[in-house]
Amino acid sequence: MGFPQSRPRRLRKTEAFRRLVAETKLHPSDFIYPLFVSETIDKPTPIKSMPGVSNLPLKEAVNEAERAFKLGIPGVILFGTPSHKDATGSASLKKDGIIQKAIKAIKDKNSDILVITDVCLCEYTDHGHCGIIRGKDVDNDETLKVLAEQAVSHAEAGADMVAPSDMMDGRVGAIRAALDRKGMTDIPIMAYSAKYCSAFYGPFRDAVDSAPRFGDRKTYQMDPPNSREAMKEIALDIEEGADIVMVKPALAYLDIIAEARDSFDVPIAAYNVSGEYSMVKMAGEQKLADPKRLTLEILTSIKRAGADIIISYHAPEAAEWLG
Ligand code: PBG
Repeated sequence: MGFPQSRPRRLRKTEAFRRLVAETKLHPSDFIYPLFVSETIDKPTPIKSMPGVSNLPLKEAVNEAERAFKLGIPGVILFGTPSHKDATGSASLKKDGIIQKAIKAIKDKNSDILVITDVCLCEYTDHGHCGIIRGKDVDNDETLKVLAEQAVSHAEAGADMVAPSDMMDGRVGAIRAALDRKGMTDIPIMAYSAKYCSAFYGPFRDAVDSAPRFGDRKTYQMDPPNSREAMKEIALDIEEGADIVMVKPALAYLDIIAEARDSFDVPIAAYNVSGEYSMVKMAGEQKLADPKRLTLEILTSIKRAGADIIISYHAPEAAEWLG
């Protein structure tokens, strides 16, 4: 049946109609909120390249996690800046490391808050790469040992879930085996499975001072032109034991999110990364567009593409707007 019987505008007539027939509905429970915890500061320090986001000392990170949780956001993902960086990222393994302390402090304050940790070396290495360097490149298999140890250390400190973001081959299997050996069979893994080598991470690297001092991440992070390869990465991670898989960044990779949703039955997470966030904030500051509408439109598009979970710096403001 075509026009004039069919008039799609009928169901767009009022806000109530539009709400009634909305196919995609954002909800605060869709979100995970990333937090930057730093050992080197004693008061919140705004991150210049990410308007509205700060590096936080431990106490403030606890308060911010609690604030987000009260807005209906189920959990946080933690990124740490240690006071000392070295070639092997040894600060990431310390029982009293910044992340280990932050996990404990947040769980002590409110054990219902889901505390997820980013498992990677780039925030802890003096060269800024995501693994152990041999020659001019990252040594995959040496790196797996440290990542597995780091994941165990986070879980022992009380993390609810670990999220490896390094993109080494075999890391999900190595982490799963290490957790299981310690009897932590119930700790899930959210794998950054299809993580692209992206310019959209610029502001994040500024925040945690993790830009590689030489070379780039092209030998481990995925090449932006590829989508079949993303499906392969996801399939491998699920085979190795990933409970949730992630596509990152989100906005320039909505096709990958949609394909992953169609192809796999595990929850799909998407990371609305720092560059995506900062573009919206800067556009708002320049009065190029309404930042609230931009944000909700972008987050809705990520969910519409098929993401079940959205990791976003916008999470608290979006939760407030969604009321
Ligand atoms: C690596 C990691 C990165 C991000 C999350 N985990 C950066 C990178 O690969 O350089 C990026 C997050 C963002 O840009 O918001 N540990």
